[in-house]
Amino acid sequence: MERECGKCVAVVAVVTEPRFAQRYRDYLEKQTLLDRQHRAVKMPDGAVALPVLGETVPEQHLRELRNRVAPGSTCMLMQLPDPVPSKKAQRCSPAQRLCLAVSRWAKGRGVTWSAELEADLPRSWQRHGNLLLLSEDCFQAKQWKNLEPELWETVASALGVQRLAKRGRVSPDGTRTPTVTLLLGNHGWVEHVDNGIRYRFDVTQCMFSFGNISEKLRVASLSCAGEVLVDLYAGIGYFTLPFLVHAGAAFVHACEWNPHAVVALRNNLEINGVADRCQVHFGDNRKLKLSNIADRVNLGLIPSSEEGWPVACQVLRQDAGGTLHIHQNVESFPGENLQPPGSSEVDKEHWPYPQQTSTNQWKNGGTRDSRRKMLSPATKPEWQRWAESAETRIATLLQQVHGKPWKTQILHIQSVKSYAPHVDHVVLDLECRPCPLVD
Ligand SMILES: C[S@@+](CC[C@H](N)C(=O)[O-])C[C@H]1O[C@@H](n2cnc3c(N)ncnc32)[C@H](O)[C@@H]1O
Repeated sequence: MERECGKCVAVVAVVTEPRFAQRYRDYLEKQTLLDRQHRAVKMPDGAVALPVLGETVPEQHLRELRNRVAPGSTCMLMQLPDPVPSKKAQRCSPAQRLCLAVSRWAKGRGVTWSAELEADLPRSWQRHGNLLLLSEDCFQAKQWKNLEPELWETVASALGVQRLAKRGRVSPDGTRTPTVTLLLGNHGWVEHVDNGIRYRFDVTQCMFSFGNISEKLRVASLSCAGEVLVDLYAGIGYFTLPFLVHAGAAFVHACEWNPHAVVALRNNLEINGVADRCQVHFGDNRKLKLSNIADRVNLGLIPSSEEGWPVACQVLRQDAGGTLHIHQNVESFPGENLQPPGSSEVDKEHWPYPQQTSTNQWKNGGTRDSRRKMLSPATKPEWQRWAESAETRIATLLQQVHGKPWKTQILHIQSVKSYAPHVDHVVLDLECRPCPLVD
């Protein structure tokens, strides 16, 4: 059933006696006036209402029906306030349903329907409850402009939502703010419930990545009881919340510089009942004043969180160190196969057997402990090469920041999602410990 902001959208129908209905149907079909998306309806007085395309039927067709097609028939136009979708329409995919609804509606407004317009319709979208977020690559043809704003009501109604928004590119400034325009509805606030956690945010101001759900689940399954965590790129709380709600972190310092995300983050901490265990640090995390407090640091920024590495090293506890979760988009090259740990050259060097450690003595006196306890079952060599170089750089930073040597160890490389062809979003879990002082 078509709905427009919760209300049904009426369609126009031609009404006649049942014995003339088939002749009417044949004529309307031949004239491409018959609406195949909706069922014919039997009226209480026995008459049959045949849904038609557009808002009316030109008088010449009504005369033709009355006088030539079925002489003596009653021929009336009426609105069907509660049209029933035809079996064909019910079998359609949402994209096909959208195409049928928009083309029917546009033709009714005198638009010449074309393959170009059809190709310009959206084929995929993000559904956030009753708000649909369209991608940037649709509704670009000039013809749509004249059809707004009713066009958006037709689109929303065909896809069964009440609000509609359209995405532009994620801005390359660090805020990762998507340029999203609200097309229908009066606000962009939506709510998602993931793994028992409620996330509320404004889609026009903050980003939400459905692709990161596996990492949110992994983070939720970690055991962080008693730990202090710094989340350097907290956003609306994508990782802060699972760390607090499920992983049992004692306290989280959540850094975020997008004011809209901060509003959502504070609200999400409240609605999930963990606001008393989190301090929000609004501003650029590179200027964070904290140091020497964290057992764990989350660096959830892609394509790279490298600018946050110095501050991540600064906040780690000087006495005991901790673990970094470093996100990165890593490019790999076609033709290089996934390799289980132990099969690549790098692995041969550093993955002898569990418990066996390969330790490299560094120029600066620090050590880089490359024992791999739990690499993913399938790891690309590029991920591993990137992890090795990140490990080296972090060890150097730790030494610079704390003025003494540290030991680093790659614990795990987690694949989060394929970001683009040949680009994977991965997370490196890196253990960082200060070297014991030797007399
Ligand atoms: C991509 S979101 C993180 C969410 C999660 N990784 C995801 O993709 O679903 C990154 C967040 O970090 C924030 N951010 C980026 N650079 C920052 C900085 N230097 N200081 C504080 N916040 C920053 C952005 O505003 C954004 O909300």
